[in-house]
Amino acid sequence: MTLQELQQEHAASLAAVAAATETAALDALRVKYLGRNGLIPGLVKQMKDVPPADRPAFGKELGAWRAAFEQALAEKTTAAQAAAEPTAAFDVTLPGRWRAEGVIHPVSRVIEEASDIFHRLGFTVADGPDIETKFNNFTALNTAPHHPSMDPSDTFWFDPELLLRTQTSSVQTRTMLANPPPVRIVCPGRCYRRDTMDATHSANFHQIEGLYVDTKPVSLADLKSILAYFAREMMGAGVGVRFRPHFFPFTEPSVEVDFTCHVCKGKGCRVCKNSGWIEIAGAGMVDPRVYEHVGYDPDQVYGYAFGMGIERIAMIKYGIPDIRYLYENDVRFLSQMR
Ligand code: PHE
Repeated sequence: MTLQELQQEHAASLAAVAAATETAALDALRVKYLGRNGLIPGLVKQMKDVPPADRPAFGKELGAWRAAFEQALAEKTTAAQAAAEPTAAFDVTLPGRWRAEGVIHPVSRVIEEASDIFHRLGFTVADGPDIETKFNNFTALNTAPHHPSMDPSDTFWFDPELLLRTQTSSVQTRTMLANPPPVRIVCPGRCYRRDTMDATHSANFHQIEGLYVDTKPVSLADLKSILAYFAREMMGAGVGVRFRPHFFPFTEPSVEVDFTCHVCKGKGCRVCKNSGWIEIAGAGMVDPRVYEHVGYDPDQVYGYAFGMGIERIAMIKYGIPDIRYLYENDVRFLSQMR
């Protein structure tokens, strides 16, 4: 083969690569030119027959051809493989897929709103653990040693001193033990009681506790006014609020606070057991015995406390007829809470 023929073969091989589109055809070209019995290796073997004077030019051209051919083949193979990959069919006429949008759970929402309202009244948010000591949950709160609320049928006990808190009032104890007066806190959180589950009761529910203790006079009238303010902010101007005398070991005097039922607007329904009212909170003036337990001087301080059921508020605010909806996390329910 002359040098000129060699150059023609070189050009022909590159043209063949350029013309091939499929990987099978490119494979065949690789075998034809580079394979064990291929053209280029064959010519390398024939180098010894080339007249010595022509050999350098011949060898140079052969090397250039091989390099050019390999490069062209590699590039074309990559392109052919990419073209062979299935492209995702994209149907522009299909309706879009909507992602389900999350909502803030009504319990969290009430906690956030309530904390916000009390924040405007000067309360800061305090926190306490779910697992409490008997002292913080009961004894410091002036609960008599044999009070029925301490019974194992009402309270989840770990041992004689540790329990799952039955009320966020345990945070009152913690706050006063850790801080001198004045204190003005709210504490939202989980509570646990051995209740049977029904439309209005759960063994695990939420309360928000409030405590205001100061060295200057604080009265029951102050307590009533902030709870009435809270009711209007939370429920709207139309809500009715009533205070009934009650008893709690840690407040004296004590009241229970009812809001008008939002499901029936006070007419009477299943949710309010036909009374038109829903019990929302317990409250009262902090009992002097509590001050003694936490090291405050009962003669130097005045204060009130309250504790409200978060679920109760959520139920009347959003017209939820059964407390169990709040725990099932059924998206059909939650998506209505937008
Ligand atoms: N902790 C009481 C309850 O769970 C409510 C309460 C709080 C009452 C604070 C008075 C003062 O029923």
